[in-house]
Amino acid sequence: MTTLLLLNASPRRERSLSRRIAQTFIDQWQASRPSDTVLQRDVGIDHPPLVTEEWIAACFTPDEKQTPANKQALAYSDAAISELSLSDIIVIATPRYNYGMPAALKAWFDQVIRIRRTFSFDPAEKTWPLSPILHGKKLILISASGEFDFHPGGIREDWDHLEPHVRTCAHYIGVASADIHHVSVEYQEFADERHDSSVKLALEMVGTIVDKLTLPLAVPY
Ligand SMILES: Cc1cc2nc3c(=O)[nH]c(=O)nc-3n(C[C@H](O)[C@H](O)[C@H](O)COP(=O)(O)O)c2cc1C
Repeated sequence: MTTLLLLNASPRRERSLSRRIAQTFIDQWQASRPSDTVLQRDVGIDHPPLVTEEWIAACFTPDEKQTPANKQALAYSDAAISELSLSDIIVIATPRYNYGMPAALKAWFDQVIRIRRTFSFDPAEKTWPLSPILHGKKLILISASGEFDFHPGGIREDWDHLEPHVRTCAHYIGVASADIHHVSVEYQEFADERHDSSVKLALEMVGTIVDKLTLPLAVPY
């Protein structure tokens, strides 16, 4: 059995493109593997808390010394990390805001990338002191943008602070770079034929990724 975590980051509900493409991914996955579990966390509607001084202090307090106040400060983080740990496949559906991820998604990463839970820190290690604790997960990043050409070689490549940032954060939630699939819808603000073909291409990519990831999971006969 595979567990998927669907993380929606758009504040838009029915009108959200990223939600629509992500739901298509989940629907196609469930059509192929109805017994798999889908966990959901809607950070676009129910915003994660921001990091506070109390949160930081609680993170650095050993488990046996945790006070009720420490535990409360970490409650969201604990819940989000525990569903992340259970998940094999993470689907992040997000708008592009000001060329990067929306604040709600960044707040979720800040809650789940946590010392002693999702990464270890070795001060004796001079070059890469931080190491991820989780491993072997796959990430489907589904993004929606009003503008276009953020891909490598595109005219706005240098303004893409969404995929590179998610890619770096993904390392700390157990996703290797090769296990990231990015489905991107562009031209939303133009609502023209370029946008239509971008949506069509994204839906085709979703089908290809579902086939690619579900095929090796099929029971041989
Ligand atoms: C606050 C805000 C900032 C945005 N910034 C950008 C941006 O920097 N670049 C871009 O291409 N589109 C930008 N957009 C457009 C959104 O990325 C686009 O509407 C996208 O479809 C939103 O995702 P959703 O349809 O899932 O809600 C912005 C939209 C809003 C509301």
